[in-house]
Amino acid sequence: MKILLLGSGGREHALAWRLRQDDPALALFTAPGNAGTGQLGTNLPIAATDLAGLLAWAEKERPDFTIVGPEAPLCAGVVDRFEQAGIPIFGPNAAAARLEGSKVFTKNFLLKHGLPTAPGAGFVDSASALAYSQAHPLFPQVLKADGLAAGKGVIIAQTPEEATGTIAQIMDQRAFGDAGNAMVIEEFLPGREMSIHVLTDGLSHVILPIAQDHKRLGEGDSGPNTGGMGAYAPAPFATAELQAQISREVVVPVLAALREEGIDFRGILYIGIIWTGDGPRILEFNVRGGDPETQILLPLLDTPLLEILQAVRDRRLGAIDVRSNARHAVTVVMAAAGYPGTPETGASIEGLEFDLPDTAVFHGGTKQDGSQVLVNGGRVLSVTAWASDLASARDLAYRRVAKIHFAGSQFRRDIAARLTLE
Ligand code: AMP
Ligand code: GLY
Repeated sequence: MKILLLGSGGREHALAWRLRQDDPALALFTAPGNAGTGQLGTNLPIAATDLAGLLAWAEKERPDFTIVGPEAPLCAGVVDRFEQAGIPIFGPNAAAARLEGSKVFTKNFLLKHGLPTAPGAGFVDSASALAYSQAHPLFPQVLKADGLAAGKGVIIAQTPEEATGTIAQIMDQRAFGDAGNAMVIEEFLPGREMSIHVLTDGLSHVILPIAQDHKRLGEGDSGPNTGGMGAYAPAPFATAELQAQISREVVVPVLAALREEGIDFRGILYIGIIWTGDGPRILEFNVRGGDPETQILLPLLDTPLLEILQAVRDRRLGAIDVRSNARHAVTVVMAAAGYPGTPETGASIEGLEFDLPDTAVFHGGTKQDGSQVLVNGGRVLSVTAWASDLASARDLAYRRVAKIHFAGSQFRRDIAARLTLE
């Protein structure tokens, strides 16, 4: 079995790790990969967004299956291109990937289908955005650049002045480039965020354990937003009742609305929700597994990963049994100095060899340099552990973190520490 995997983060190393655990004889190629994926297979010097380069490689090498980690190649249409060439691939097509690629498209989709979301609207010019902002005096107000902006395109404006300045930055000064061709303005919703990962082939679906991400850099949810500094699952506040409500009010109606629109979504739909005093509201869709959520969801699955992903692509998810185990998983992200701004790269990472049972260190921004592994990006490692209860998984993850060192490393000591739904 020959697999091509696209991406270079902790999510992709976790996917590679799981594929190799399920099938030690797998031939694995990662484009472009990191030091972690390089230890499990061959890294290819092709960017995950270089569709022509990827297709040329795949047409020559004919992988049995291709798995896409990040959103950018999905939004650029890698799945359409591979399927046209007769190369089987996992992930949504470009039309379905608009759920992540365009926040205006998504806002219109949510409002049109009466799905639970914050009141708001989409705009294609700054004058109408400004008029809407000024006509809605409730603050804070949430301003979102339409396109992919590496997690930086959402601004929570505390005052009308800040909103006015942000609209000008997004749409006139083009702080996020073409991602600011359009924007969404919506009401701020207080509550607790949760990551809902749904595997779907368009016909049936499986909801994976509800995960909790920690987005802020600092302890106690302080400091700037990041791609995610740690996560845990299943979330202890996600009672059977809460899960049933999310399924009934969010997942089932979203999938029905996609079918009604004729959107063929086959892949992982990650629904970012916020639990308000009034139940769940949809904040965003991602069209791929979360990073770092994937790092904790994979150890909770008992069914071989490739079997699941191939069933999703072939529209036979309903015919297989996707089994989760009763474990709990925690991941702690170790980030480079400077993150979430420009990371300082090049430091050597020590202590990776001190293994502990029921843990795994997934590489993100790393690169192999001879026998050394060097820091090569913002989120460097996702130190992951699993156990029969969350507190033990957390202790184990931090025991493994304590053995790893690199100059300037930043990590939160409070991952999975606040476990109730307030
Ligand atoms: P998004 O990419 O749309 O999920 O936005 C990024 C982050 O901004 C979310 O994870 C939330 O923390 C925050 N956010 C987005 N929309 C809202 C909202 N309507 N109310 C409160 N926070 C929000
Ligand atoms: N952890 C958030 C994301 O993957 O978008």
